[in-house]
Amino acid sequence: DGFLDVLKKIEDGQDLTHSDIVLLLKTDRKAEMEALFKAADEMRKKIIGDVVDIRGAIEFSNHCKKDCKYCGVRRNLEGLQRYRMTEDEIMEVVHSLHNIGIKTVILQSGEDAWWTRDRIAHLITRIKKETGMKITLSLGERPREEYEYFKKLGANNYLLKIETTNEEIFKFIHPDDDINHRKECSSWLKELGYLNGSGCIIGLPGQREEDIANDILYFKDMGINMIGIGPFIPAKGTPLENYPTGDVDMTLKAVAVTRLVCKRVFLPATTALASIDSDLQADALKAGANTIMLINTPAKYRYNYQIYSDKNMVDLKSAYDAVTGANREFPSYLKIDMEVYKDAGNTEK
Ligand code: 5AD
Repeated sequence: DGFLDVLKKIEDGQDLTHSDIVLLLKTDRKAEMEALFKAADEMRKKIIGDVVDIRGAIEFSNHCKKDCKYCGVRRNLEGLQRYRMTEDEIMEVVHSLHNIGIKTVILQSGEDAWWTRDRIAHLITRIKKETGMKITLSLGERPREEYEYFKKLGANNYLLKIETTNEEIFKFIHPDDDINHRKECSSWLKELGYLNGSGCIIGLPGQREEDIANDILYFKDMGINMIGIGPFIPAKGTPLENYPTGDVDMTLKAVAVTRLVCKRVFLPATTALASIDSDLQADALKAGANTIMLINTPAKYRYNYQIYSDKNMVDLKSAYDAVTGANREFPSYLKIDMEVYKDAGNTEK
């Protein structure tokens, strides 16, 4: 099949095969890419509506026991000042997000043993009690019992990216991890009833379009609800610091195809895209994405949470701008509606 045949399949509501997806990802013709983005934009409109979902992320600890080769807070990164926000510091940010109408807070950290089950549990309970906000956890791999306990206390969503489904690449970039265990964690989260987040990095060493197609089909088969797709960005001081930045067009194509294949999912216009160029988040929103994650880590810590170098700082001010419409980077037809994800979002159960 050619490109137009695949577009026709999309219009007819047929499922795309692995080779259809590869074909879409491989095009570098401008007209074809635009047709792909337009198809994804229409799918977003049909399934989600003209709404951008805003969430606030707090990166509350950069301590990490793992040594992922791409990551700027990896265990062996020398010279990085490590920090851990206190519960009160975190709550202060949580309240500021709540006060401007943000409904979901994302708690993200390295894999930090200081943040035990009970400390996380205490924080979850406090957030629920004081604000009633939805909570997305992004704490890496944990025992099933902990995921279960956090869910019982009211955590709603969990982000744990597979990063790549290519086993060799996964192993190469994750010296401490096992891909099957990562997948197992994701299936636990699903069983436990979390809205389940995954995602991948585009432009990892050795990664081909075929691999990205497998990633997208994995998200579909696993019933993943939130899919963060961002370009690889070399982080200073890591083993991958001299590798090239991931391709922006490939990232946008992957976002668009993911919308077309997975349909009813949350697709963030990732911070990694914004870090390459601030206009790229808007481009992603025009190519199927529907979510923006604001970075609300206090300024004094943020600099030390550069999982990749020159990470773009999306902050509370951008939140106000986004809400009031002052942020001209947004496509004008998209409305910010922070009420939209009242009940665990607009994703199928
Ligand atoms: N480039 C791009 N994305 C990265 N992440 C971490 N390090 C990098 C990097 N160097 C992404 C991973 C992780 C998320 C928190 O940030 O996908 O899951």
